Amino acid sequence: MVLSTGYNKIRTAVFISGTGSNLKSLIKFSKIKQSPISIEFIISNNSKAKGLNYAKIYKIKKKVLNFKNKNLSENKLLSILNKNNIKMICLAGFMKILSKNFIKEFKGKILNIHPSLLPKYKGLNTHKRALNNNEKYSGCTVHFVNSRLDSGKIILQKKVKISKNETETSLAKKILAQEHKLYPKAILKVFSL
Ligand code: GAR
Repeated sequence: MVLSTGYNKIRTAVFISGTGSNLKSLIKFSKIKQSPISIEFIISNNSKAKGLNYAKIYKIKKKVLNFKNKNLSENKLLSILNKNNIKMICLAGFMKILSKNFIKEFKGKILNIHPSLLPKYKGLNTHKRALNNNEKYSGCTVHFVNSRLDSGKIILQKKVKISKNETETSLAKKILAQEHKLYPKAILKVFSL
């Protein structure tokens, strides 16, 4: 694996709310030469998000904005992103909904990963709902973010088979492992379009 300096790569921010395992996989991906992105900023709405530790480990700038006042937080966010010359945003387990106005500022430049085969199971509790509906398959989707929740153009999906004794936890784990591979692949695809 050839490590890159990040020179000339698209300056990217990753937004998280929790564990940040997708963030970690994106950081690792960003460091290979073939990666079109460099991760320059981590944003979280949750000061206790475990994923914030990756900021320290990988020496990446971070900012916590609580989103209690969405307008105020988004205005601060826009100013931080612009100051840091951020050109692309990857949502990775970010559990807040961004406003139309914010999305407009980064039109076509925001990606999200969602733990279902969209358009099925938009929103929360995807695994529970898939299991309750006796689905044979679930999976994950990387898509562009538009103003409607989990509804932007799909970039890539990965299907995962649901086993007989599947639980919410086992399914989440299985899908998460695929998410870590899918997000980098989807980014490569976006830059080859
Ligand atoms: C992932 O499964 C991601 O797809 C999901 O949250 C998890 C975050 O895990 N995102 C959503 O549900 C967004 N609606 P991570 O913090 O370990 O990357």
